[in-house]
Amino acid sequence: MEAFSKNNKTIIEIKDLKKSYGDNQVLNGFDMRLVEGENLVIMGKSGSGKSVMIKCLIGLEEPDSGTIKVMDKDISTLKHEELDELRTEVGFLFQGSALYDSMTVRENLEFPLRRHTKKFGVILDTTPLVMEALENVGLAKTIDLMPEELSGGMKRRIALARTLILQPKIILYDEPTTGLDPITAKEIILLMQSVQKKYNTSALIITHDVDCARAISNRMILLVDGINYAEGTFNELIASKDPKIQAFFK
Ligand SMILES: Nc1ncnc2c1ncn2[C@@H]1O[C@H](COP(=O)(O)OP(=O)(O)O)[C@@H](O)[C@H]1O
Ligand SMILES: [Mg+2]
Repeated sequence: MEAFSKNNKTIIEIKDLKKSYGDNQVLNGFDMRLVEGENLVIMGKSGSGKSVMIKCLIGLEEPDSGTIKVMDKDISTLKHEELDELRTEVGFLFQGSALYDSMTVRENLEFPLRRHTKKFGVILDTTPLVMEALENVGLAKTIDLMPEELSGGMKRRIALARTLILQPKIILYDEPTTGLDPITAKEIILLMQSVQKKYNTSALIITHDVDCARAISNRMILLVDGINYAEGTFNELIASKDPKIQAFFK
């Protein structure tokens, strides 16, 4: 994807984020800015703190220090309900798919609608929203199936549909293509692109899949040693002579 206009509004801002577990200093002053409408890819080695960073961002982990602002709100100052409300604007696609195994596809998609009644009010007939979300991922026919009846790629797509059903402004993807075969991975990338086009969402994409990064990123950050070691477009970073940066593209 092409570079992105940096003049747009900042929608997420992380400053000097630090987080350690015991003497394992995972994040050591990480900075990040997500601009409205852009696809920002964060790459980092396994265990470098990508998931920890995302958990801090959605309030699942508490940072040791630093500030995190989502849509101009400092999340550390938000009350439980406010954080919950903000979460309807920030869709999160977990590593793996994390569908509820005991629920049908329809019930999995209804779940966020029933939990967050504030955004849409109480919806008596959820079918149109469920169908729209499923059509977005090309899986309308699976509405009455159980997760165990779906392939890994289908589960990932249903999980994306479940994220989209709340019409978030921002989507966080944690390793969206990991564990999928190359063809299915490509399908997921195409879906992510079509979602951005259709809903004009901003996305933070965590991945170590170089093909995914190339296809989807307007801009990239490389997370090394707990900091944003390098930033730039895919083409800028891949042309770098720095061995620590080159290592990502081998
Ligand atoms: N709840 C936790 N307790 C202790 N250590 C953790 C916890 N969560 C993550 N870590 C450690 O933090 C580091 C970064 O983890 P993570 O963010 O999951 O890596 P990745 O970049 O692969 O997503 C790892 O060393 C991991 O063991
Ligand atoms: Mg991870």
